[in-house]
Amino acid sequence: MRVGVLTGGGDCPGLNAVIRGIVRKGVTEYGNEFVGFRDGWRGPLENQTSVLGVEQVRGILPRGGTILGSSRTNPFAIEGGVERIKDNLASNGCDALIAIGGEDTLGVATKLVELGVNVVGVPKTIDNDLSGTDFTFGFDTAVNIAMEAIDRLHTTAESHHRVLVVEVMGRHAGWIALHSGLAGGANIILIPERLFDIDKVCAQVESRFATHYSPIIVVSEGAAPAEGSMSMVSGDVDAFGHVRLGGIGDRLASEIEKRTGKEARAVVLGHIQRGGTPTAFDRWLATRFGLHAIQAVNEGDFGTMMALRGTDIKRVPLAEGTHKLKLVTPELYEEAEVLFG
Ligand code: F6P
Repeated sequence: MRVGVLTGGGDCPGLNAVIRGIVRKGVTEYGNEFVGFRDGWRGPLENQTSVLGVEQVRGILPRGGTILGSSRTNPFAIEGGVERIKDNLASNGCDALIAIGGEDTLGVATKLVELGVNVVGVPKTIDNDLSGTDFTFGFDTAVNIAMEAIDRLHTTAESHHRVLVVEVMGRHAGWIALHSGLAGGANIILIPERLFDIDKVCAQVESRFATHYSPIIVVSEGAAPAEGSMSMVSGDVDAFGHVRLGGIGDRLASEIEKRTGKEARAVVLGHIQRGGTPTAFDRWLATRFGLHAIQAVNEGDFGTMMALRGTDIKRVPLAEGTHKLKLVTPELYEEAEVLFG
């Protein structure tokens, strides 16, 4: 069997580990051949391919990014896109395709399955906001990077009696903020799922200073104030219609400084959270997702997505992963709130 592989959406530590798992098991156990499609859905759309075999995956396990490249191309936004994908898969002799991606990439995969394309999905995103799976790979690495940053920022906050605001990724879901904030001992965690009250945030800042400590605030890029007056968006949108976010950390810091009179600084972690080598957990999860995905392909179990349930890898319908985002629940947020201030 000849299998196409693509990686779409934001790059994420562990993508190469998935590719390696797929290729190594596919070649050894099933005698599969592979076609690497370049840059997400742009690859099968524009017939951009690369050689993909055991030689190409040697040494890539610890490497961040993706050897196949990525993009946020949406074939459903392009006239005749689906037909071009079908034609290019056929001309490359591909019987099946493994799509490794987040809500957008796997959303496309879900629709293509309905249109008769043999696709198996692997859930990827540092945001951890795909349903159906306990964790996506990349998340643990991002959380560890953010936690280390918070650890380091504590010393400056304490030495200079400053408020430090750490802006982390998370457009719709606050998982990175919640997990890194808890792990790093943040004093306030603000997430997109819960509009924040700036008066309450300032009161918590004051109370923290009153006990002779300096506050660290972790804020998701998608967090917004209750009154809706501080959210910052650039106005640009990507091919999936998402506005480019950014700026809530700076806005929050200047608002806190204005209201409390305490010096406040913001640090935006940005793409550092997605860069570099994956943690052991992400290598383990990504490798196992890859091994299970190629098995699903060879068993003809198309329209499925690999999912972590406990410590087992299960297959769930692709639509289960993409029909709605997995958000931080009120219960989980309230559990953390006891540590605020
Ligand atoms: O989906 C992963 C992610 O890193 C989000 O956390 C973030 O909002 C988005 O991608 C940023 O995308 P880009 O790198 O295309 O600006």
